[in-house]
Amino acid sequence: MRIDVLTIFPDYFRGPFDVSLLGRARRGGPLDLHVHDLRAYTSDRHRTVDDLPYGGGAGMVMKPEPFFEAVETLFGSVPARPRTVLFTPRGRRLDQRLVADLAGEPLLLLCGRYEGIDERVHAGLATDELSVGDYVLAGGEAAACILVEAVTRLLPGALGNIDSAAEESFTEGLLEYPQYTRPATYRGMAVPDVLLSGDHGAVARWRRERALEHTRRTRPDLFAAWRARSDLDDGS
Ligand code: ADE
Repeated sequence: MRIDVLTIFPDYFRGPFDVSLLGRARRGGPLDLHVHDLRAYTSDRHRTVDDLPYGGGAGMVMKPEPFFEAVETLFGSVPARPRTVLFTPRGRRLDQRLVADLAGEPLLLLCGRYEGIDERVHAGLATDELSVGDYVLAGGEAAACILVEAVTRLLPGALGNIDSAAEESFTEGLLEYPQYTRPATYRGMAVPDVLLSGDHGAVARWRRERALEHTRRTRPDLFAAWRARSDLDDGS
């Protein structure tokens, strides 16, 4: 999977894109990742990427020209361009379903800073506007890290254990059950007996109950959606 990232802080990604899952996926794995410096696509001596907002107000707005120049230079005209994601708190909120939808096809990620990006970049370049949550970051770079990591772990060959992507939180719309490893008792806290029983059916039932209980308590919204889907399934 090819992913291109456009940013004024290419160095931001040193570390996140070099170690662990992403580092391995890039080195001989399924991920072909390219980070581009937006300032390389400016044409003035100061390599200006931002300017004052029309209409007044606080902060600076990122100019449209470097974005258009970069995208046209790197990818040419519209039909040749990858799906283009612009990160903004105004965007559709990222969830596992959208991650799965984005995994595999080529992506171009546009990262903004300051008070935002000129609206003509939204209208003229972005195919998707994405938010990673209902809070405001200092820019799109952290959001890009989140998306790249979430899609990469779904790529065949990226995770050691194929099962681990399938069984986890959200795949079925429920949060994950609790996990334990040795020792069986630590600081007076014992691992639940059922996990030591060797009874695979009982373990599976316990995990299911814990997942449902945990989801109901911490994410009533997910629980309600899961229940509505189960009722539909039962009815058919
Ligand atoms: N840029 C600033 N805040 C953001 C958010 N919550 N999601 C995506 N991009 C952002």
